[in-house]
Amino acid sequence: MNAIQQVDNINQFVEVEAGVILENLHQKVKESGFIFPLDLGAKGSCMIGGNIATNAGGLQALRYGVMRNLVLGLEVVLADGTILNNLNPVLKNNTGYDLKHLFIGSEGTLGIITRAILKLNPAPAFFSTAFIALENFENSRELLNRAKIFFGDKLTSFEILWPAFYRLLTNENSGNKKVMPDNYPLYVLTEIAGSDRAIPFQMEVFLESALNDNIVVDAVFVQQQEDRKQFWQIRENIDHILVQHNPIFNFDVSLPVSEMEQYVAKVDAELKQNFSVVYNYVFGHMGDGNLHLMINCGEGNTDAKELVEKIVYAALPSTHSSVSAEHGIGLTKKKWLPFSRSPQEIAVMKSIKNVLDPNNIMNPGKIFYCY
Ligand code: LAC
Ligand code: ZN
Repeated sequence: MNAIQQVDNINQFVEVEAGVILENLHQKVKESGFIFPLDLGAKGSCMIGGNIATNAGGLQALRYGVMRNLVLGLEVVLADGTILNNLNPVLKNNTGYDLKHLFIGSEGTLGIITRAILKLNPAPAFFSTAFIALENFENSRELLNRAKIFFGDKLTSFEILWPAFYRLLTNENSGNKKVMPDNYPLYVLTEIAGSDRAIPFQMEVFLESALNDNIVVDAVFVQQQEDRKQFWQIRENIDHILVQHNPIFNFDVSLPVSEMEQYVAKVDAELKQNFSVVYNYVFGHMGDGNLHLMINCGEGNTDAKELVEKIVYAALPSTHSSVSAEHGIGLTKKKWLPFSRSPQEIAVMKSIKNVLDPNNIMNPGKIFYCY
């Protein structure tokens, strides 16, 4: 099920089978001058069906949205064998419930996604990618605001890296080059893209003004594909954390940008109060309000895991936050679903599950404890 069936140049969509590897889709649509803008570290192995079932987010959600915003239509096989053909290619279609949204992010619990129609975007001709060092978090907030205003929809990514992350990902075993010194308090990796050949110049003007206003302390920017790749590898090669530390507890939270600094400080302080060894690698999609924490506390037993989870989730602001921004609930976050969803919401989810899969044969055990 890995065929890319149709790239429709005129209507700017592509029809794919669910087993297509994301990076293969990127390469295929490039031949026609398009991008499929979902981009994530696992692009070389993850498949479109999984990207849809988990509503993947990734590195360009700031500009293009998450998977939910990129799917026009779906084909799904239901628990009773029905093939639900919802392969709609048009953007506007208000003919009753938009059924595809039930399956996007359902983690396989409502049906098996077999085919999809996905939205394409014109491939930008020019890019500029900057690695930036800052003195403090407040400046990164200011920089994000300025970038949104200055670049508008040319701003495709705004990623934040706490210094421990940058240091580890550029250490001697990382295979990555240090693109700037590793003793700055905070780093941002940002990218702009578009059809305007002045893109590199615009990045230069933006950074110059931020440097003059003491918002940033150091910056390097590149536009060649090879150099961009080098920058992105520092952000994307998170497997290196797993090589350097074992066990690692992984988190994927979302919260307002205004709460992030306090949140990270609180989690750090509480981890240190409870464990003698603490490595807390924090990074993520600041532009989307989505942080990842990869934590090693020396111990890997169930008690340690639960305590770390409690610390990470209890520190979230009680409203406007989520225990999973883009990775989903699966098995490991089931227990924490009520942190982010009300009993009424969970009850409705369970009713839907019951109607579509009364015998609980679709990816049983995921998301909820019982149906
Ligand atoms: C990333 C994965 C962890 O952003 O979501 O690298
Ligand atoms: Zn992510």
